[in-house]
Amino acid sequence: MKQRFIDPFTPNRPIDDPERFFGRADPVEELVDALFQIKNSNPKHSIVTGDRGVGKSSLLGQAQLTATGDNRLTNRLNIDRGCDQFDFICIWHDCDSTQSAFDLANAILRKFESSFSKFTKGLTVELDLAGFAKLGANQQSAANLSELIEEFCGRLDRVCSSALKAGKDGVLIFVDEIDRLSVDSMVASFMKLATERLARDKVQNLSFMAAGITGAVQKLEDEHGSILRTFRDVPLTTFESDEVEDILLDGFQKVERKVAMSNLGEKAWEVTVGLPEPIHLLGSEMLSVDEDAELNEDDFSAAIEKIVTDVRRNKLASLLRSAGGGKYQRIVEAIAAYDKKIVPLQEIAKHLGHEQNTFATNMATLLDRGILLKPQIGYYTFSDPMLKEYIKINGVLNMEE
Ligand SMILES: Nc1ncnc2c1ncn2[C@@H]1O[C@H](COP(=O)(O)OP(=O)(O)OP(=O)(O)O)[C@@H](O)[C@H]1O
Ligand SMILES: [Mg+2]
Repeated sequence: MKQRFIDPFTPNRPIDDPERFFGRADPVEELVDALFQIKNSNPKHSIVTGDRGVGKSSLLGQAQLTATGDNRLTNRLNIDRGCDQFDFICIWHDCDSTQSAFDLANAILRKFESSFSKFTKGLTVELDLAGFAKLGANQQSAANLSELIEEFCGRLDRVCSSALKAGKDGVLIFVDEIDRLSVDSMVASFMKLATERLARDKVQNLSFMAAGITGAVQKLEDEHGSILRTFRDVPLTTFESDEVEDILLDGFQKVERKVAMSNLGEKAWEVTVGLPEPIHLLGSEMLSVDEDAELNEDDFSAAIEKIVTDVRRNKLASLLRSAGGGKYQRIVEAIAAYDKKIVPLQEIAKHLGHEQNTFATNMATLLDRGILLKPQIGYYTFSDPMLKEYIKINGVLNMEE
């Protein structure tokens, strides 16, 4: 009988264990430097950007752990913290599409009021949230934005000085999934103006650490300008094949499985394009199909088949449908037919038998609809690399445009 085990892979949630957080030495170094600067009254705001599932929340989570005194990751990566350990007060906010700038500000202040005493042994901070809530009545108006910033920054000033009085290094505001905010939420302008205001008011030990999907952050930037000027961009890229292999082998080792497969890293890179979410999914499913505690090529193929016909079938089917009909399906088919995952535009043109400029807007639409990514100029790949495997098995849809 196959023995039950705890799945070492976590495709559905960010990595919280620093021992299982791979690669990323440079981005971690940048965020640790930001912590050091903030501690020393030189505030730096950061925004982690990258494709869906590339590991943004995981990185922010590790920054939060480090900021609250957990030295495991910095020790393992041999990164100088410039101090024994950090001791910040942190709050975490996940954005959603219905939130306005006021909602964001209100949520942040609430979290400080309710968690402050937890971090500072019984000390509390009074922020007059009832007074603040009155600003919410008229939240959509741009005229109200300056008043909102004034009231918000005044309260953050209080949070920050109370933190310093309690012997803390300062205050960090983690804002994840900033890409979910709608363009008319005014959050981009709000964040930019609030950080500038805090700088003018010399609130120096407080900073924002945000994360969002590259394209969507770009869109906020286009609408409102310059968050990327006030926030330092920390871009995350996909993993190389040796890192892909490390992640898989580490998981397999955790549950004492042998690996009887050559080129695991390269093969796994080919199907996942180095995105950690599919890497975890692949690892998890390889363990689930394996019967003999030894992972081989058959387990590898069976896992991919299980992912596209079972585990992710509905998600992939709806992704393919959302590409659109007619020409869109033929473009998608061309991308799936190419023997590499990252496809040059001229190969797509060749497959379609059309000049590149006749379908340029279709390519832009597929990027917009979240079907494709453009890893470099003139190159395209599926946002979910498993879509290619799905199309190889099921074909594309016969749908009118
Ligand atoms: N450095 C890492 N080492 C190993 N696994 C990682 C790493 N970073 C992320 N992962 C894994 O990748 C998957 C996606 O991570 P995460 O949720 O952090 O990505 P994300 O960019 O925030 O995704 P989304 O765009 O959906 O918010 C998770 O399964 C996580 O466990
Ligand atoms: Mg995330």
